[in-house]
Amino acid sequence: MPADRSAPTWPREFIWGVSTSSYQIEGGATDDGRGPSIWDVRCRLPGKVANGDTGAVACDHYHRHREDIELMRSLGVDAYRFSVAWPRVLPRGIGAPNPAGLAFYDRLIDDLLAAGIEPWLCLYHWDLPQALQDQGGWTSRDSAGWFADYAALACRRYGDRVRRWITFNEFSVFTLFGYAMDWQAPGQVDRRAHLQAIHHVNLAHGAAVDVIRSLVPGASIGAIHNRQRVLPRGDDDADRVAATTLDAFWNRTFPEAQLEAAYPSPVAEAIEPFVRAGDMARICRPIDWFGLNHYGPIFARAEPSALWGFAWADPPEATERTPIGWAIHPEMFRDELVELSRRFRLPVVVTENGSGGADIPAADGRVDDARRVDYLQAYTAAMHEAIAAGADVRGYFIWSLLDNFEWGAGYANRFGLFHVDFATLRRTPKSSARWYRELIAAARA
Ligand code: FCB
Repeated sequence: MPADRSAPTWPREFIWGVSTSSYQIEGGATDDGRGPSIWDVRCRLPGKVANGDTGAVACDHYHRHREDIELMRSLGVDAYRFSVAWPRVLPRGIGAPNPAGLAFYDRLIDDLLAAGIEPWLCLYHWDLPQALQDQGGWTSRDSAGWFADYAALACRRYGDRVRRWITFNEFSVFTLFGYAMDWQAPGQVDRRAHLQAIHHVNLAHGAAVDVIRSLVPGASIGAIHNRQRVLPRGDDDADRVAATTLDAFWNRTFPEAQLEAAYPSPVAEAIEPFVRAGDMARICRPIDWFGLNHYGPIFARAEPSALWGFAWADPPEATERTPIGWAIHPEMFRDELVELSRRFRLPVVVTENGSGGADIPAADGRVDDARRVDYLQAYTAAMHEAIAAGADVRGYFIWSLLDNFEWGAGYANRFGLFHVDFATLRRTPKSSARWYRELIAAARA
């Protein structure tokens, strides 16, 4: 039975939140002893980021986190998902920690708690310390140990105040875009490197789960996977095979290894040389919830010259899209939530959902992002239907609190509920911020 969209009631304990990540908002890239990350390096390479943008200043959240917590308070959110910049707390990735960097996250966590907002701490949102990249990065099997040591440092420091822990954000995106497509750091396109990175990141996840479990009593541990339906762009067999292969890398490789101790075909055959006895048990460690990032379906076409024979394709002309061209399909979101909940038997938390646009302020300074409001309305309604159909969904985090550094697209693609003027760093609520505040208030009423 379809849910009543006019007066949705949400589960009492449902968690409403917003998400960000360190490199995308912090800035302060050389402040107080922070070391360089692979993204600082990539941003300096000509042609890799639109407009030559970098995260050196970004939203300057490093110096303005209190102002940003006030924005969260104005929305009435229960929770805030952020990531720790590994090179801020460990400038060389391993070895001596940086006291000033550690102290920044103390302040952030304490101020969030004082504002009644629960911190959800993600250990890795793509900013690997460059010093570790110089030693092979994720292609080195040692990376699992480096990550476990970093996780232990974070647990010992913040585990007295942080209960919600996330190992990685979007395993498949940074491995695929960083090692198979040169869309993201480190841009090392090579089959062997890609397979090693996949397996070592999985080992790092498993090792970190064990570390968090042993050092933070009562921790609630999740991992964040992006999952969206992969559709063949054309209706021939070649595009269908391309879609199946992309689906394996994009949607299946990480959750199935971590929750079912097996790699899907065709990844399983290719990755075999890198898998040692006992590895799958090290990777498949019990976690408490499944973090889902979801935007809309993606499209694949056959491309024989590409590393794995598939390439990204634009949605067909007739597809409804966001202003930046991403397909809109709330029913697929609903179905994904229902299937996911059944398949892995874990509570699901939607850790990212949102819509990108140019969001140009009107003459009076207001930013009326009506299309984002429509998108969010449709997607939250779909989530409500999924819950009504039995999906165990516990929370929803919008990407993102603020406009920020959107990786290869630089500052051109805006996802924030708050507009950021990157010249003055002034924050302005968009229509979507008001919409979200009202939704949260109504959900609690
Ligand atoms: C996700 C990323 C996040 C942001 C959004 C738009 O893939 O996790 O950092 O870039 O997309």
